[in-house]
Amino acid sequence: MRVRSLIAVLLVFSMGLMPVSATAQGYPDKPIILIVPFAAGGPSDTVGRLVADNLARSLGQQVIVENVGGAGGVLGAERAAKAAPDGYTLLTHHGALAAAPSLYANLRYDTKTAFEPLGLVNTGPMVLLSKKGLETANAKELFAWLKAQGSKATVGFAGVGSNSYICATLLQQLLGVKLAMVPYRGTGPAMIDLVAGQIDVLCDQATTAVPQIQGGTVKAYAVTSSERLDSIKDVPSAKEAGLPDFSVTIWNGLYAPKGVPSVVVEKVNAAIGKMITDPTILERFAATGTTPFPADMRSPSAHAKHLNSEIARFATMFKAVGVTPQEAK
Ligand code: MLT
Repeated sequence: MRVRSLIAVLLVFSMGLMPVSATAQGYPDKPIILIVPFAAGGPSDTVGRLVADNLARSLGQQVIVENVGGAGGVLGAERAAKAAPDGYTLLTHHGALAAAPSLYANLRYDTKTAFEPLGLVNTGPMVLLSKKGLETANAKELFAWLKAQGSKATVGFAGVGSNSYICATLLQQLLGVKLAMVPYRGTGPAMIDLVAGQIDVLCDQATTAVPQIQGGTVKAYAVTSSERLDSIKDVPSAKEAGLPDFSVTIWNGLYAPKGVPSVVVEKVNAAIGKMITDPTILERFAATGTTPFPADMRSPSAHAKHLNSEIARFATMFKAVGVTPQEAK
């Protein structure tokens, strides 16, 4: 009896001294938290929950979504950057992760070194929407209305750096107008207000815009790409709407805090690859106007390269238009 207890004690001790990478071979052996850095009900949340569900099935463990909204995705990213690098806290994020270093003066993490990219998930355009009650029949009329209203017209956005911020800012630049920007913790709540007629305009990702357009709860004017989307064939492309430079492409990827064991990177990357080649997911993506990343962009190193090139692209873009970093609150 005594000998058995001694062995048990020794085992516990030796486990405690084992390097993380050795114990991680059995990863995951407890639930994983997936941080979504925007409010529930929005496009990041929609994609995040799809990813969580698929990871859970592939990895055989529960994956719990935690919405940590605020500061255009910065608060959620910071939470992930500071979590233990054991693979039990992951982050799903989009282009705002790459835009933040150019927009926030006081980021409490270094975007280039704080994360381990695990794999890119999907990419797609955004859609310019208005509340249903707006009496504008097409993009030309909407643009004229926005120019006439100026700051009397309201446009929702999900914090500085978010896709909706970039889209709304680009639209204002192209139209040469300044609208009243209304901040939200995500476009989930912004969409609720648009449907209720509380705000005039919102530029949202196709993922959540398409179902609302199909349901007739909002009006759609332009897709932020050179082609129309099959799922909303009546909505003009940016060029057809008269603004060929109104181009915004969103992308999502998964991250872990830097320093996670390589087995975590391998297992999660393999699970993402399995998910985005699954015909059911492909059908779901297509129905909401979004596409999985192609095979040559599915590795963690391709993801890291994409993140770094987006950081550089945003830096050049914001510098060119004279945007200076602000404090994240
Ligand atoms: C969200 O889920 O709220 C969005 O991803 C925010 C955005 O980038 O516009």
